[in-house]
Amino acid sequence: DDDENQKEDYLLKILLVGDSAVGKSNLLSRFCTNEFDPNSKSTIGVEFATKSVKIKETLIKAQIWDTAGQERYDSVTKSYYRGAIGALVVYDITNHITFEHSNKWITAVKENSHPNILILLVGNKIDLKEKRQVTHDEGKKFAEENGLAFIETSALDSTNVEEAFLTILENIL
Ligand code: GTP
Ligand code: MG
Repeated sequence: DDDENQKEDYLLKILLVGDSAVGKSNLLSRFCTNEFDPNSKSTIGVEFATKSVKIKETLIKAQIWDTAGQERYDSVTKSYYRGAIGALVVYDITNHITFEHSNKWITAVKENSHPNILILLVGNKIDLKEKRQVTHDEGKKFAEENGLAFIETSALDSTNVEEAFLTILENIL
């Protein structure tokens, strides 16, 4: 296998959006470097990381843009949506208002990237079972009604993190 020498065939731009503190930066670090930071700082503006993944014999370079959830950065972050072909709209299952705000993020993504962008709705922090405010069914129903894919994750214990990113990449390809 000559994976190490193989050049990526595609560069795919993926967005991470959602309210502040839902866990976007930790989903990214869990996926790219298998790290989790319990005391992570709120993102300022935009950061990105890349990871090469092989999907159906095709080597893809996923360029994942991690945006700040804090409202004061909205105008900056939205200027980075352009050219994205997939987005993870993340909420925190222990904070219902972040789920209610998903709608706002979905609209922003469609308006600033491409109306047909592939969107995966992600309910994060499922390790915090006793604090859950958004049921799995509620998330799934909202996703179905809006034609989105849906998954629940935990950046802390790694549940479904790789699956989330691979789901979006597989559906794009
Ligand atoms: P902004 O950059 O402000 O938009 O926030 P963010 O969405 O990037 O959130 P971040 O990844 O910084 O995580 C916020 C807090 O939630 C941090 O204290 C994380 O350690 C914690 N956190 C993130 N993911 C999980 C998770 O899956 N489970 C638990 N228990 N905590 C998590
Ligand atoms: Mg962040």
